[in-house]
Amino acid sequence: GLPSFVKIIEVGPRDGLQNEKNIVPTSVKVEFINKLSETGLPVIEVTSFVSPKWVPQMADHNEVLSAIHRKPGVVYTALTPNLKGLESAIAANVSEVAIFGAASETFSRKNINCSIEESLARFSDVLERAKAAKIKVRGYVSCVLGCPYEGDIKPEKVAEVAQRMFELGCYEISLGDTVGVGTPGAMRVLLSTVSKVVPVANLAVHCHDTYGQALANILAALQMGVSVVDSSVAGLGGCPYAKGASGNMATEDVVYMLNGLAIKTIMLLNLGCNSLKTS
Ligand code: HMG
Ligand code: MG
Repeated sequence: GLPSFVKIIEVGPRDGLQNEKNIVPTSVKVEFINKLSETGLPVIEVTSFVSPKWVPQMADHNEVLSAIHRKPGVVYTALTPNLKGLESAIAANVSEVAIFGAASETFSRKNINCSIEESLARFSDVLERAKAAKIKVRGYVSCVLGCPYEGDIKPEKVAEVAQRMFELGCYEISLGDTVGVGTPGAMRVLLSTVSKVVPVANLAVHCHDTYGQALANILAALQMGVSVVDSSVAGLGGCPYAKGASGNMATEDVVYMLNGLAIKTIMLLNLGCNSLKTS
């Protein structure tokens, strides 16, 4: 059966704007995030604490986090690849953070400049420090349905990396179809393998839409018990280290589908409780 509630993680300000050729002015990002905060979205990934030499689009992370209006109840999160990023994110008063690894050795090196094994050692440090600071950590695994450099990726490799990140203490593992090459059939095989080692309640899907499969892949994931979906308003998105990959699943389109399935997506945050409203 399908879940009765799906939590949407809005990644537009991060996944979307990290890939814009022209750097979006900070004031425009702040206005964008403030508007997203008013929509009822429970989680907004606002920026990344990564090297400004690698991703100049996210260099204004501190300015963005200090200027946005934080709506009570909304979680404002950011990517933190290492301890340096985590310390800066804590100083900027994020609500949560996310680490990001990959199931592809080559993509790991291109994206975060280290092997998978080295990345897990870094993540272990991040998780230890985040735990001490009482900050929840989400974990991304990229290239779960294919890699821009290596092509096919084995579901068993995804499961191994996802399990390691889960055991390190990530409360949720977001499975990233970074290049958007997945199909519903591949998604089913992937989830049946990964859910053997990470409970499906702790899995999310993050589908790029290069071949127009994202919505179908998400539906397949919901049918397999997933109830957390990453998406990006207007379908913005892409990764600077995955050439040819298009945007993410558009938030408005996934919400439209979920409404049609009578699946709730909106929490009434302003009531100060977790009661749900029909979206
Ligand atoms: P590195 O060069 O290996 O790191 O980069 P390093 O520790 O050797 O440091 C080198 C320099 O970077 C130093 O500065 C550090 O201070 C600085 P310098 O002395 O040369 O002036 N540095 C930092 N600066 C700011 N914040 C930091 C930080 N760490 C080091 N946290 C690093 C390693 C991970 C930092 C680098 O490779 C990087 O920034 N990569 C960018 C990765 C990225 O943002 N990719 C896009 C997001 S992932 C994605 O889109 C996929 C996802 O959407 C899921 C999916 O679709 O699959 C999540
Ligand atoms: Mg992405």
